[in-house]
Amino acid sequence: MRANMAGMTVLIVGGGGREHALAIGLVESESVGDVHACPGNAGTALVGINHDVSVTDVVAVGELASEISADLVVIGPEAPLVAGLSDHLRDIGIPSFGPHSQGAALEGSKLHAKRVMQNLGIPTGGVLVLDAESDIKKALATFESPWVIKRDVLAAGKGVVVTSDDVEASEFISNSIKTDGFVLLEEFLSGEEASMLVLMDESGYLCLPASQDHKRVGEGDTGPNTGGMGAYAPAPVVTPAVRQRAIDEIVEPMHHYLRNQQIPYRGVLYVGLMIDENGAPNVVEYNVRFGDPETQVTIPLIENDLGELLLATAEGNLSGISPKFSNKSAVTVVLASEGYPTSSETGREIKGAKSRIEEGDIVGFVHYAGAELLDDGSLLSTGGRVLAATAIAPNLHLALECSYALMNEIELEGSHYRSDIGHRAL
Ligand code: AMP
Ligand code: GLY
Repeated sequence: MRANMAGMTVLIVGGGGREHALAIGLVESESVGDVHACPGNAGTALVGINHDVSVTDVVAVGELASEISADLVVIGPEAPLVAGLSDHLRDIGIPSFGPHSQGAALEGSKLHAKRVMQNLGIPTGGVLVLDAESDIKKALATFESPWVIKRDVLAAGKGVVVTSDDVEASEFISNSIKTDGFVLLEEFLSGEEASMLVLMDESGYLCLPASQDHKRVGEGDTGPNTGGMGAYAPAPVVTPAVRQRAIDEIVEPMHHYLRNQQIPYRGVLYVGLMIDENGAPNVVEYNVRFGDPETQVTIPLIENDLGELLLATAEGNLSGISPKFSNKSAVTVVLASEGYPTSSETGREIKGAKSRIEEGDIVGFVHYAGAELLDDGSLLSTGGRVLAATAIAPNLHLALECSYALMNEIELEGSHYRSDIGHRAL
């Protein structure tokens, strides 16, 4: 851990690969002294101090932030944002990167997000809200297959089913209505997906380099949805023209709306895009936090001091910052536990994970997620997504070569990864 007494103390909330990427970016910032994480993971333990505090225990996180005299809290996952962690931190006078609970409802409720988009005329698919009174067969006939069905709950990317099988669709609809009271049936959007992460506060917004995730578990985008199996940035599908349309049609109206709320939105708005064959961007979803694994390929491309950037956003001073981005390519390949995403076999030893390789202007390293560092230095798997092999290089080909070289050295019984990350850009 680097100790720089002059710098800020930052507390990162969360314990995934995203939080390890944030921790590395913050530790490398001139403005930052010490980095703490709760609960953190094997990765954040390498660059900072972990604290065993639950991310959704809003009061306990506030106490920890006060105890360590945090100058800034950076909130990774959606659950604490929806639970009001930012509201609480601001109440006790600690700058927090991440929206208040009202802003977080854009992710907390897909129905709320749809209504906001419809009111603002933002391009997105049509939707039907189905409940116990609805005629499911008639509803399915409203949209062409494949059907997109979404539970209106936080489900880590797993509350969504996209299927052309009408029996599977009907079953998921009726089961969701039983557990949740209602469910959304959405128009299927075709095209290519991309993630646009936009830092935002009342003073302005800043679009980070666009990235592309790989949501399905299997090669060639097959199998069930996951939290994300790998990503790369920049994503060439977001051409300058697509980017400008996304800004004009989506980001600008959202910023105008969010800056005029009683409590302004300060954090990152993740715009999940579907770009059709004519280059028209549609919104698939909003998240109110950094993407995972998109963060692992986005943070390394930011050349600004990350601590300053996130603090400025947390304090409503983003418009004073001039962005600087690298023109390199970044890629990350996720290694998942046996059974993921249906179940996860954990508690197994991970071997061969190199912390860093460097060759000329190519850098590769491991981002830890569901992994714990034991006192004897050994590593144990603790979650579905265990780690990611990340590389930064002058182009995507070289970055992929480096990521997969790192990955090939890693041993974890029963684990799996996709060998086609970046295929759409090649
Ligand atoms: P969400 O949690 O809303 O992002 O949905 C998870 C994934 O399901 C997305 O990343 C897409 O791959 C897919 N998906 C969601 N909504 C749609 C849609 N309306 N049309 C096509 N695919 C979708
Ligand atoms: N990688 C998708 C997400 O963070 O929601």
